[in-house]
Amino acid sequence: MRILVTYYSTGGNTKKVADAIYEALEKEDRDIKPVTEVDNTEDYSLIFLGFPIHGHSVPVAVHNFIKNIKPGVSLALFATHSSHKDSRLSREAVEHALSLSNASEVLGSFTCRGGADPEVLDRLKEKPEHREWASSAYSALSHPDESDLEDAKEFARDMLSKARKFEKHFL
Ligand SMILES: Cc1cc2nc3c(=O)[nH]c(=O)nc-3n(C[C@H](O)[C@H](O)[C@H](O)COP(=O)(O)O)c2cc1C
Repeated sequence: MRILVTYYSTGGNTKKVADAIYEALEKEDRDIKPVTEVDNTEDYSLIFLGFPIHGHSVPVAVHNFIKNIKPGVSLALFATHSSHKDSRLSREAVEHALSLSNASEVLGSFTCRGGADPEVLDRLKEKPEHREWASSAYSALSHPDESDLEDAKEFARDMLSKARKFEKHFL
């Protein structure tokens, strides 16, 4: 089974989670690259796709990437966000990402907090559309931490075992 770990990350948090997932899959035939460098997804049967939540939603580059994944690929999503763990807005953003997919099987998703620059937060929390998440975001500065990265590795192993079961069922 060929596996792709791909991500969009402007500040490095989502990349850290992607690296942890890649590391957890060390025994597998796998690649890692940013979404902007992936030309072709057809060679992979399992894709881990990660993104930061931006404005309660999915960054445009990721939106387009998800839409172009061909049916037949198993997809596992991961996201970082500054609002509290499992906050309503972060769950809604991931649900939105899941709804964009044509992939035949969405195996699961993982989220954790990721800190944003406090100066950026000071500016964003003045805007009504960002106030809710930005006000709760200052305490995310230490994330993703070691414990988040361990959780991400466990997620990776869990998704791999699900993908194997899925493959067996259909081959
Ligand atoms: C322009 C902008 C918009 C953001 N919007 C949200 C948001 O709606 N909800 C949230 O929880 N975090 C939001 N964040 C915080 C990021 O999702 C978080 O810091 C994430 O870990 C960044 O990942 P990265 O370092 O991989 O880019 C936003 C950050 C930026 C810069």
